[in-house]
Amino acid sequence: MGSQVAERAAGRPRVFVARRIPDEGLESIVAACESDVWPDELPPPRAELLRRVAGCDGILTLLTDRVDDELLDAAGPRLRVVSNYGVGYDNIDVAACTRRRVAVGNTPGVLTETTADLAWALLMAAARRLPEGDRYVRAGQWRTWGPLLLLGPDVHGATIGIVGFGRIGQAVARRARGFGMTVLYHDVQRVPDEVSEPLGARFVTLDELLAESDFVSLHVNLTEVTRHLINAYTLAAMKPTAVLVNTSRGPVVDQFALADALRDGTIWAAALDVTDPEPIPMDDPLVGLDNCLIVPHIASASRATRGKMAAMAAANLIAGVRGEPLPTPVVAGA
Ligand code: GLV
Repeated sequence: MGSQVAERAAGRPRVFVARRIPDEGLESIVAACESDVWPDELPPPRAELLRRVAGCDGILTLLTDRVDDELLDAAGPRLRVVSNYGVGYDNIDVAACTRRRVAVGNTPGVLTETTADLAWALLMAAARRLPEGDRYVRAGQWRTWGPLLLLGPDVHGATIGIVGFGRIGQAVARRARGFGMTVLYHDVQRVPDEVSEPLGARFVTLDELLAESDFVSLHVNLTEVTRHLINAYTLAAMKPTAVLVNTSRGPVVDQFALADALRDGTIWAAALDVTDPEPIPMDDPLVGLDNCLIVPHIASASRATRGKMAAMAAANLIAGVRGEPLPTPVVAGA
């Protein structure tokens, strides 16, 4: 009996799952594969990751796990799939995977609306100074209703500039319509009119967007082109009353330039779901600024969405180890 179990185990694909993911995905992985699931809240240290992936048919990674030639070498020739739990995959050298015929999957679509919700939560919270107000109350400073207390800009009727007009950028635009906002967008190319017109969104150059927007919300992928897209120069092109919202990737913003801009009034406030690095060091200048709201990369963190992401990542992993096409593959160079 014991040897039958061992035999069956030997025939099943071996996978390393780099963190506990919701049961919606984990259960099917454990049922289909010989699974080694990293149990800690923190990512596996690099040496441990390299050790654990050795001989695996599949790996389920998170954005904190770097997948490069070194890791692919450590995994060895059995590896058929890297399934990333997330839509962004800047942690993965997709070209290196493709060269070795290792499929790469991600979890697009399911987190679009949830991420747009958080971009809006950040926008509203920064504009209406919710964290400052909360700190003020808890510090026992609330003495009366104040005509000049914690004033901020109106959100309704303002102009929002959306940089990166893919699925998430468009979902942010959809919400902006409900607030009667003027919606501008910039991307490497215009989206078809049948997409932008129902959203009331107008294509503009980046310079125009920065100059005209009261709120600038970032929704680009991290690439060599978008790294430090927001820098001293682009911050100076924004309104002094502008609020910057970043739910894309930390390195899209030059944080030192942002800290200077927030300190000297070049822009009014920022709200960040992502930083560079993550976690942000407690001595980073942004941490000490009242006009900078920072949350710990939680844009997709609704229970339902994280469950759907788990199911998708599991489906990619299981298809990959079976040599089947991935339901949601990442394509090199796309
Ligand atoms: C999270 O940032 C993701 O890319 O899914």
